[in-house]
Amino acid sequence: MKALLLSDIHANIDALQAVLAAAPAYDVVWNLGDIVGYNAAPAAVLEQCQSLGKVFVRGNHDRACAGQVDLETFNAVAAAAVRWTQKQLTAEMLEWLARLPSGPRSPANDTLAPATVHCMHGSPCDEDEYMLSEEDALTQLPCARAPINFFGHTHVQGGFAFDSAGDCAEILPGMTGEPAVEQWELPLRPGLRYFLNPGSVGQPRDGDWRAAFAIYDDAAALLTFWRVPYDVRMAQIRIQRAGLPDRLAMRLRAGR
Ligand SMILES: [Fe+2]
Repeated sequence: MKALLLSDIHANIDALQAVLAAAPAYDVVWNLGDIVGYNAAPAAVLEQCQSLGKVFVRGNHDRACAGQVDLETFNAVAAAAVRWTQKQLTAEMLEWLARLPSGPRSPANDTLAPATVHCMHGSPCDEDEYMLSEEDALTQLPCARAPINFFGHTHVQGGFAFDSAGDCAEILPGMTGEPAVEQWELPLRPGLRYFLNPGSVGQPRDGDWRAAFAIYDDAAALLTFWRVPYDVRMAQIRIQRAGLPDRLAMRLRAGR
């Protein structure tokens, strides 16, 4: 079984289409949340995600657009994007966002039962927690109930591996940053526990502007990280035409 891991698409249809065009064959799609927010094509991205599969966990922007988050807790730019997004989506779309399940979840049976793999947006302890450092990951480790934990939220491709003693190694995909499609393979070793982030499709923040995703092959015990160039200029034009904050367009090229 091969799973296409998508996270933090954030309404960027140009990035999502580039990812789907570049992705190798897969059996299922596991969506780690933040389908909407920030970028300017929420309805198109939401419909595309609905057609891709049934395994989802909700992100904080999905909840915010569904009216489940106090926007006072969002920064002004993010809150402006939420308010704009709410006007672009139908009542049915907003209801669908509101019903997305929280993580962590087993993609096999949509429960928190012990499993090989769990999917989550933030961390095993808290769907809104950011795991940016080894220290962050270590504090979340006691909540992990699966050896392989796929997460998003940070918009940073990579992750963390823990040995049986709890020692942590950061996983940094060895990408060159060239404006071309790139892959980097991570063999998954038995006995280790992993927090693995496929990166953000629609708003990367790891210094690489290319859309990020990953392919998990359970039979081969292999995770392949991918980066794919896409039409950033078109995504920026959509943001400007929508009247969304300029900052949201600028950051796409910087990958920050
Ligand atoms: Fe996000």
